[in-house]
Amino acid sequence: MDRNSLTIRDNRSGKEVTLPIIEGSEGPPVVDVSNIFKDFGLFTLDPGFRSTASCQSEITFIDGDQGILLHRGYPIEQLAEKSNYLEVCYLLIFGHLPTQAEFTEFKNLVTHHTMVHEQLQKFYQGFRRDAHPMAIMVGVVGALSSFYHEALDVEDAHHREIAAYRLLSKMPTLAAFSYKYAVGQPFMYPQNRLCFVENFLHMMFAVPCESYHVSPVLVQAMEKIMILHADHEQNASTSTVRLAGSSLANPFAAVSAGIGALWGPAHGGANEAVLGMLGEIGDPDRIGEYIRRAKDPQDSFRLMGFGHRVYKNYDPRAKILRAAAHQVLQELDRTDDPRLKIALKLERIALEDDYFVKKKLYPNVDFYSGLILSAIGIPTNMFTVIFALARSVGWISQWMEMMAEKGQSIGRPRQLYTGAKKRDYIPIENRG
Ligand code: ACO
Repeated sequence: MDRNSLTIRDNRSGKEVTLPIIEGSEGPPVVDVSNIFKDFGLFTLDPGFRSTASCQSEITFIDGDQGILLHRGYPIEQLAEKSNYLEVCYLLIFGHLPTQAEFTEFKNLVTHHTMVHEQLQKFYQGFRRDAHPMAIMVGVVGALSSFYHEALDVEDAHHREIAAYRLLSKMPTLAAFSYKYAVGQPFMYPQNRLCFVENFLHMMFAVPCESYHVSPVLVQAMEKIMILHADHEQNASTSTVRLAGSSLANPFAAVSAGIGALWGPAHGGANEAVLGMLGEIGDPDRIGEYIRRAKDPQDSFRLMGFGHRVYKNYDPRAKILRAAAHQVLQELDRTDDPRLKIALKLERIALEDDYFVKKKLYPNVDFYSGLILSAIGIPTNMFTVIFALARSVGWISQWMEMMAEKGQSIGRPRQLYTGAKKRDYIPIENRG
C-alpha cells in the first residue's frame, strides 16, 4: 500500500478511490483531490476553506498552533527587528534577501516611480469629501489599469515585474492623497530624498507652507507595522487577488478586488474596529460588561482584535506590536493613553477567561496596530488603508507566483446545489 495516499470508499457504490498525499516543506501534507470528480463523480465541500489549500506557494508559511510566521523561510521576528520594509518587499517578490547591489537597484526603481499621472489626481475630485478612504483606494488602484496599456500583458514576465514596481511605488502616493482629499489639504508630491516610510508620512502630514520633520521613532514603528502586514499567505484578500487574477485580469484590477476584500471588519477593517471598541468601552471598569457580551451567544458583539482563523496561539505579529506600542507611546509621552490601559487590561482578562482560553482566542495583529497608528497621528478611517498599503507587496508577489505557474488556469469553484429541481415554467396567469 502506498503510504503517501488516502483511500476513500463510497459506501453507496462500494467504489474505492486512492488519492495522492503531497508533502510540502513545512506544515501538514495535503490530499490532492483535483481528480476526485473525474474519477469518482463527487465534489468536495469546504465553505470557508477550513481544510482546503487553494494553491501551492513558496512565499509565506504559518503554523497557527505554534504561532510561527515565516517569509521565504525567515521568521517574522527577525525581519521585524533587523530588516526594513523595502528589503522585505524584495524578499517576498524575488524569493531571496538582496545583495547590496540588488537592493540599491530595487530601492532606486521604487523611489523613482512614486509619482502618479496628473490625470489620476482628477479621480479624487469625483469622490464625496466624506468618502471612506478605502472606497477611494478601490477606485484609484483599479484606475491605474487605464494608464499603463503598454505593459499590461499578464502573460509577459517582464510586464508583470513592471506592474509590481508600479504598484509598490505608487500605493503610498495614492493612499496619502486619499487622506489629503478628505481633510481638504493640497496633495504633497513624493520626495525622492526620503526613505519609503518617511516619504509616505511626509505625503500624509506635510503641508507646502511648513517644513516637516518625521520623528525616527515613528518611522521605525511604521516600518514595523508595514513589515508585519506585508504578507500572510492565502487570507481572504490575497485569495481574492489570486482568484481575480486567475481570469487573466490585469494586476491593478486584481489588487483593487483585494482591497475590497480587505475592507471588511472580519479582515483588515478590524484595526479600525478595535479603536472604536476601545473608545466605546471608555473606562477599564466597563471591560467586564464587554467580555460578557462577547461570550453571550445571543449577542453578535465580538471582541475586535481577538481570534484568528489560523492562529490558535498568540499571533506573533501582535507580540511584536505590543512592545512597539509601548515604545511609541513612551516616546510620545502618552503612556497614560486610556485606550492603552483598556487594551492591556482587556487582553489580560481575556487571556485568563475560560471562554477565550477554550476557543483559543488570542490577540491578533490588529489589536495593537491601531494604538500605534493613532499615536502616529493617522486617523482611524485610514488604518485599513495602511494595511492595504503594506499588503500590496504580498498581493503582487502572490499574483506573480500564480501567473508564473505552468498550467495556470482560471479559479472556478463548484458548489453543492440545494435549490429547486428542474421544473417547468408556468405562465403568470396560471400561477396560484
Ligand atoms: N470575540 C468573541 N468570540 C469570538 C471571537 C471574538 N473576537 N472570535 C471568534 N469567537 C468565537 C465564535 O463565536 C465561535 O464560537 P462558537 O464556536 O461558540 O460558535 C468560535 O470563537 C470560533 O469562531 P469562528 O468565527 O468560527 O472563527 P473564524 O475562524 O471563522 O473567524 C475571525 C476568525 C473572523 C478573525 C474571528 O475571530 C473574528 O471575528 N474576530 C474579530 C475580528 C478581528 O479581529 N478580525 C481580524 C482578523 S486578523 C486579520 O485579518 C489581519
